[in-house]
Amino acid sequence: MMFGRVLWMLTVIGCFRVLLNPVEAQPRRILVDTDVDTDDVLALLYLLKQSKTEFDLTAISVNVNGWSDAGHAVNYVYDILAMMDRNDIPVGVGGEGGILPNGTILPNGDSTAGGCRYKQAVPPGQHGHLDINTNYGVRRALLPQGDRKYVPLQQPTAQQVMKDAISAGPITVLNMGTHSNLAVFLMTNPSLKKNIEHIYAMGGAVRSTCSENATSVLCGDIGNLFRQDINPYAEFNIFGDPFAAYTVLHSGIPVTLVPLDATRTIPLDEPFFKAFEQKQDTYEAQYSFQSLKMVRDTWPNDEFYKQFCMWDSFMVGVALSQMRSSERDDKENEFAKLEYMNLTVITSNRPYGISDGSNPLIDGRLIPKFGVQKNGVHSGHVQMGMEDPFCLVKEGKGKCQDGYTKETTGAEAVTVLVATEAKRDHDSNSTRVKDFYDNFLDVVAVGDVSVIGQLLVDEHQSKMVKILSSVNPKAYHEEFANILGEQKQSAS
Ligand SMILES: *[C@@H]1O[C@H](CO)[C@@H](O)[C@H](O)[C@H]1NC(C)=O
Ligand SMILES: *[C@@H]1O[C@H](CO)[C@@H](O)[C@H](O)[C@H]1NC(C)=O
Ligand SMILES: *[C@@H]1O[C@H](CO)[C@@H](O)[C@H](O)[C@H]1NC(C)=O
Ligand SMILES: *[C@@H]1O[C@H](CO)[C@@H](O)[C@H](O)[C@H]1NC(C)=O
Repeated sequence: MMFGRVLWMLTVIGCFRVLLNPVEAQPRRILVDTDVDTDDVLALLYLLKQSKTEFDLTAISVNVNGWSDAGHAVNYVYDILAMMDRNDIPVGVGGEGGILPNGTILPNGDSTAGGCRYKQAVPPGQHGHLDINTNYGVRRALLPQGDRKYVPLQQPTAQQVMKDAISAGPITVLNMGTHSNLAVFLMTNPSLKKNIEHIYAMGGAVRSTCSENATSVLCGDIGNLFRQDINPYAEFNIFGDPFAAYTVLHSGIPVTLVPLDATRTIPLDEPFFKAFEQKQDTYEAQYSFQSLKMVRDTWPNDEFYKQFCMWDSFMVGVALSQMRSSERDDKENEFAKLEYMNLTVITSNRPYGISDGSNPLIDGRLIPKFGVQKNGVHSGHVQMGMEDPFCLVKEGKGKCQDGYTKETTGAEAVTVLVATEAKRDHDSNSTRVKDFYDNFLDVVAVGDVSVIGQLLVDEHQSKMVKILSSVNPKAYHEEFANILGEQKQSAS
């Protein structure tokens, strides 16, 4: 009797839910393309913690033209997915290849520019890609290991994983790194373009140079390359493969761009850091926080709280909010102010049509690559490394603009929805000013505890979860440099 009644009530509640939320029956399928920087991992966790019935992360493609190397990046993503009980998500690797210290581009690179021409934008640092590959040692110390492992030459390619996911039905792409994988996919599978409903990308720099009244050293230039005197306009993700970004933005698929203009208004400031420290109720929150703490403690100057921003995780927040409100105004967003702008991506520098040996789309080819025009916007000088004399202007800033997401008009322009700044906090009593900070903590740091993370740690390491409370960065670097020092870290 009792049982029957409970069952009946459940049935009624179930029906009501269906009636009230008819759209919820179909989760949004999402594909993420990532370069697996620390920031990407926070974004992945934030996404994985969403309700799967609302947002279903279907596949991940890894792009290793930026910060990390293939095997490390894939294993890292596998372990994150294992912790979150999502071993069902396929992971493909793309963008392998390299550029030698003398500038020679290896032939097997998987970017539109040919090889990893722009990989040199990411300085190798003291230990090659060690910092990101190991997540500063925090990964090995704290992250449970999953069963899946990267297998060289057998790992599914990014292109195959993308093809499987995108051909299976309507999907939204979240791009957290360079656009190489997606651009190559669009060029080789034009008939599947129709399945991509929307592309959200963290990348580029359009207008603002920094948040209001900020005194950060970042202020003054639009972009964020480490050597801004050569190219003050580019942001890393777009600079990593400007022609790929151009291809994606001009693909005809609706794009929402979250550029530095917006992310610089949401730095990972001290109040947020402190609030995060207080909210450590889940294993993934502890892992994320210890990662951030390590980044802070090894930051090269004392500007961490101004310079380290919510980049990819903020983009994911903006994307999810926009998907939730898609039946209302396009520009209605919980976390960011958005504006339509006419843009393009600069891929080469004037004068156009002069072959000087720098441009891999044109030089030495009877027919230019990808059908670009010999005298068009892609035919000029392409920046050669971070000390290219072509880009230097006497006693001024560099003039190269490769990768600049520039506002423009006319035939070259494409209309893109651009995030301009993070929204202020509704709660006037909050010590923090941004809504997204609160949401991020609510999602990652509280919510359901990922039991699986704890279980796996216990199983594989036969010990309790160990959380570092304080870390000596120098000692860490020495230890891990010794352990991994013999391994080839990267081609850059
Ligand atoms: C660059 O280095 C590689 C490997 O050492 C070498 O094979 C190649 O000839 C060098 N290229 C130039 C232009 O020096
Ligand atoms: C920035 O500076 C202007 C002028 O000094 C001031 O009016 C404004 O309140 C400042 N904004 C912030 C956020 O501090
Ligand atoms: C973008 O360009 C189109 C076509 O030239 C124009 O109609 C539209 O108003 C422009 N949008 C913005 C935001 O400038
Ligand atoms: C802010 O704090 C005051 C005083 O403690 C309280 O009355 C008010 O309700 C709070 N406002 C919000 C939005 O929480």
